[in-house]
Amino acid sequence: MRTFWNLAGLILTVNLLPLLARAGEGGSFVLINMTPYNWNQVYINSYQMNAWNFPQSVLAGTMAKVYVEWDQYILDDQEDDGGEVVYQLEGSPTSASFQLQARATTTSFNLQAYYTNIATTSHPLGSVVDLGWVHNGNTVFVLSGVPGHFNTINPPSNWMQLSLATVGNKPLRQLVIPGSHDSGMSFVDGSTFFGGGASHVLTQTLSVGGQLTNGARYFDLRPVISSGIFKTGHYSTLPAVGYQGANGESFSQIILEINAFTAVNSELIILNLSHDLNTDSGYGSLTQADWDKLFLQLSGLSHLYVAPNPTTIDLSTLPLSQFIGLGSAAVIVLVDAGDKTVTLGSYATRGFYSSTTQFPLFNSYANTNGLSTLENDQLTKLAQNRISWNSSEFLLSWTLTQQAIDFTQKNAPSIIGYANQANNDLFTALPPVINRNVFPNILYIDNFNRTDVTALAIGINDYNTNWEGAGCGGVTGTQVQRFASLGRRVTQ
Ligand SMILES: *[C@@H]1O[C@H](CO)[C@@H](O)[C@H](O)[C@H]1NC(C)=O
Ligand SMILES: *[C@@H]1O[C@H](CO)[C@@H](O)[C@H](O)[C@H]1NC(C)=O
Ligand SMILES: *[C@@H]1O[C@H](CO)[C@@H](O)[C@H](O)[C@H]1NC(C)=O
Repeated sequence: MRTFWNLAGLILTVNLLPLLARAGEGGSFVLINMTPYNWNQVYINSYQMNAWNFPQSVLAGTMAKVYVEWDQYILDDQEDDGGEVVYQLEGSPTSASFQLQARATTTSFNLQAYYTNIATTSHPLGSVVDLGWVHNGNTVFVLSGVPGHFNTINPPSNWMQLSLATVGNKPLRQLVIPGSHDSGMSFVDGSTFFGGGASHVLTQTLSVGGQLTNGARYFDLRPVISSGIFKTGHYSTLPAVGYQGANGESFSQIILEINAFTAVNSELIILNLSHDLNTDSGYGSLTQADWDKLFLQLSGLSHLYVAPNPTTIDLSTLPLSQFIGLGSAAVIVLVDAGDKTVTLGSYATRGFYSSTTQFPLFNSYANTNGLSTLENDQLTKLAQNRISWNSSEFLLSWTLTQQAIDFTQKNAPSIIGYANQANNDLFTALPPVINRNVFPNILYIDNFNRTDVTALAIGINDYNTNWEGAGCGGVTGTQVQRFASLGRRVTQ
């Protein structure tokens, strides 16, 4: 009994400690340096922060995870919490530096980037940009490129056009492109569930058009016929409940959104069609006649791209500039029909391609709801499959998958809830394992409602550009063009 009370007293004391100490919300500030320059700390200052300690330098091509903690001590004024740190880019041909800041109000915390001495494609010299604050998670800052070509968070919606000068000559298999899993499932439009199914079928919170605006360029579309209409669907044999699913965005809506986007953004968009089924007649695969109808409807896409030798070309070997270099958008439709006798017919020369033979890609998901299993699985597969900078395409399937327990346990995360965990983790898990040979080609995620994933992809592309060829000491616009035009990097 005595021991019990002592233990209870101890637990009580430990629990009360944070209230008596200068505790506050903590989280990580994740600094991703995809420039070719080391960042050196030249100034640091803070007031009333419990933690604001930054590394002396963040080396080129690396990530630093910095623990930040605010002061919410009852006797202090939270809105006075603040911090600044300034990094200078060592060896940049023109002087370049930026400041990161911590700012608080009585009700909120905020990390900020102040582009003091740096102009980027999305934020001009002198701008101050809100990075948000993720309690117990990662708040991300990414910077890549060289003077005149710096890229950072909130990339512009025509990021691929803006990348042409630097990576336009690279084939797709040497580039990173962000994309989404089950892209049409941002709302339910018809479902086999009697209710409450949304948490098991919705993979996205934004429509395809919204994802495009956030930078996604690769889409996983699963066509179903429902009451004679082509919609996207998400059907599977789910743990505990068996064969279930729902329909999402319709193809007619997706076509409208893509056309609206490509009318003003000359970007490359890849649509991968698979998992087809007819919900009107026994959930079988679409027939040739069904596919022909869908191909006809998809012919309403503007800017369908017809490659040279369209029936045999491996699209991943074509450089980005081949698709969009002339200043108009390019949309390619990859088809992986359930019925293997289905053919593209005349559509094979009109922007439609065989997914398996014309865009060969390693794509194998972890089938886990655990982050560390996901990391081990995907990062091992990445290292095994991307052995050179010219290896064939690798899709990093950065999604968590609900397991049986998620269907039976109350308050289990929804797919979107899991997506938020996985997406948050991407920024600290991926940068440490990539190098100029080992990097994914498609960053494939659920809930593509953020632009930092796009900034990371652009950053990796920038980092893989052969800036060294220019000595990193005096890269000019012309040199950037010249080294990009070499088409491959000298240092491997
Ligand atoms: C297309 O989707 C199918 C089904 O998810 C997948 O197996 C395949 O790897 C994807 N192919 C491409 C080129 O994206
Ligand atoms: C990259 O791989 C593709 C496909 O195997 C091949 O056609 C191409 O020549 C390779 N490029 C280089 C520079 O080796
Ligand atoms: C993305 O969606 C998640 C889940 O709905 C939400 O918590 C988060 O705030 C959204 N992020 C952005 C940038 O809108």
